[in-house]
Amino acid sequence: MSVLGVEGEDRDDFTKGESKQVRDRSLRLLNSLLRPLWARVTLTIIVVVISTGAQVAGPALIAYGIDTGLPAILKHDWVPLYFAVATYLVAGIVGAALIAWYTVLTARISQAILIDLRKRVFLHTQRLSLEFHESYTSGRIIARQTSDLDSIRELLDSGINQLIQGGLYMVFIAIALFSIDWVSGVVLFVSLVPLAFLTRWFQLRSQKVFRLTRVTSAKLIVHFVETMTGIRAVKAFRKEKRNETEFAQLVEDYREANSKSIRLFGRFDPGLVLIGNVTLGVVLLVGGLRVANGGLAIGVLLAALLYTRSFYAPAQELAMFYNSYQSAAAALEKISGVLEEEPSVPDPTRPIDLWQAKGAVGFAGVEFAYNKDKVILPHFDLEIPAGQTIALVGSTGAGKSTLAKLISRFYDPSSGVVSLDGVDLRRLHPKDLRRAIVMVTQEAYLFSGSVGENIALGKPEATTEEIVNAAKAVGAHEFIESLPNGYDTDVNKRGGRVSAGQRQLISFARAFLANPVVLILDEATASLDIPSERLVQEGLQTLLADRTAIIIAHRLSTVAIADRVLVMEHGIIVEDGTPRDLISGTGRFSKLHAAWRESLV
Ligand SMILES: Nc1ncnc2c1ncn2[C@@H]1O[C@H](COP(=O)(O)OP(=O)(O)OP(=O)(O)O)[C@@H](O)[C@H]1O
Ligand SMILES: [Mg+2]
Repeated sequence: MSVLGVEGEDRDDFTKGESKQVRDRSLRLLNSLLRPLWARVTLTIIVVVISTGAQVAGPALIAYGIDTGLPAILKHDWVPLYFAVATYLVAGIVGAALIAWYTVLTARISQAILIDLRKRVFLHTQRLSLEFHESYTSGRIIARQTSDLDSIRELLDSGINQLIQGGLYMVFIAIALFSIDWVSGVVLFVSLVPLAFLTRWFQLRSQKVFRLTRVTSAKLIVHFVETMTGIRAVKAFRKEKRNETEFAQLVEDYREANSKSIRLFGRFDPGLVLIGNVTLGVVLLVGGLRVANGGLAIGVLLAALLYTRSFYAPAQELAMFYNSYQSAAAALEKISGVLEEEPSVPDPTRPIDLWQAKGAVGFAGVEFAYNKDKVILPHFDLEIPAGQTIALVGSTGAGKSTLAKLISRFYDPSSGVVSLDGVDLRRLHPKDLRRAIVMVTQEAYLFSGSVGENIALGKPEATTEEIVNAAKAVGAHEFIESLPNGYDTDVNKRGGRVSAGQRQLISFARAFLANPVVLILDEATASLDIPSERLVQEGLQTLLADRTAIIIAHRLSTVAIADRVLVMEHGIIVEDGTPRDLISGTGRFSKLHAAWRESLV
């Protein structure tokens, strides 16, 4: 994983080059999101420019009405005034209609972007390898899909509107003001100096404050998710009180950060109003003196005042835009980090199809480490002929599950080759790999849905009969029949709640239905009681007959059905032989076995 990728996402000490890289990454994402929408975006820009122009025309038309229309009436010529009023009305109606259109257009664009982004985040995180998911906590994944997308939505739905309409409005007004009366234009221009200082001050402060609100709210979410996912441990260890204090502190931090941001607005807003009003006063004073001298028409003064007043109206909204822009930019940075993360176990570019796998598994010169500083398998060579049943035993942390994860290609070896029927797993077509090799672990996960559907996961097109047969083969049929709705029982409903052992039986049925040539059971029988384990073992024996099987188990009873036992210590096979040979020998396994026999009597 790169430093700038998902691991660096909560850092704020980026060097210049790094922040540029992060910014480029966000821009690339933004660009790829907008590219398919360019026609709509262009249309929207045209519509907003015309509608703003129509709105800004108002005061100039009023000036024309007063300065040209009124004197003309004295000469009984009503045409100029009618013209001014009619044009004013048309401009108003066109402006309003275009605003309506513009609102629909931007809403469509924002929805299109959000749908695209939401799908991308889901599909990409799902595609990423196990290595990513083992380090990226679920709280963070949830934040990407919820609060981050929300801040982008907020920016798209209101922020961009404010920026475009407000910013454009200010520019148009300045142009209009300069063209009808340049002196008032200069006054407005001078007032931009305090405005710039005030805005800069606000930006610098708000950057810190908004970052603080984001960080504190993220902490709040992570704490919440962690507590609720670990709720059993929380209850078992009576951690509620401690959690309460921790959570109260986080809530307090969040409140404090929010009130800081409110206080900031509490100074910025009045500052804006003050600058706006002083400017208006100066325009009135300077203009009034010129009107008295006969140097300025009264209608133009009125228009200048109207323009000056409207100029400052969107300023506050623009400051709000800065807020939503910042959180959306931060969200985009994080999302683009996840989206640019590459699977550490990539699909092959030119895959080899292996239609009829036999199931021979080989390790040739394999070295493996999760992190560079700790090698788990120093040097591993192993040949498992097709059809062999292997029992893999060894003490906790020896590397058994790691071996299983390498065979299932959840990870790739740091060096060396893991192969199926002599084909490097990295070159095997993913669908062939998944069909050929199935691993069942202790955490038998059930998805929402019925028991039958959960079994059918192993073979989506399975008939009911096949599902029932698979359940019978592993000894799960009886308990499933006794559930309220049998195979149709919903596993998430009351009554469909099954025990850990029953869950394992279901996941066995799932694996048996999948019918892989290589089956790995990683402590998959650990939650079963002795009778159930026996039952499963009977099923196992018929099922393992024509496939390669690797059984990892602490209970040595499982070893009896194996053709070959491997004893593993510190990532190395220290004993390898038939159960009988090893038991009668003098090695580790014979000692283990003797101790186990003792414990039975
Ligand atoms: N995702 C991971 N990241 C880093 N290190 C890991 C990871 N998973 C396991 N390890 C380390 O690899 C070593 C071997 O772990 P492994 O899970 O393969 O042991 P095991 O033989 O299956 O043990 P057990 O009998 O307890 O299941 C351990 O030292 C463990 O700390
Ligand atoms: Mg293990």
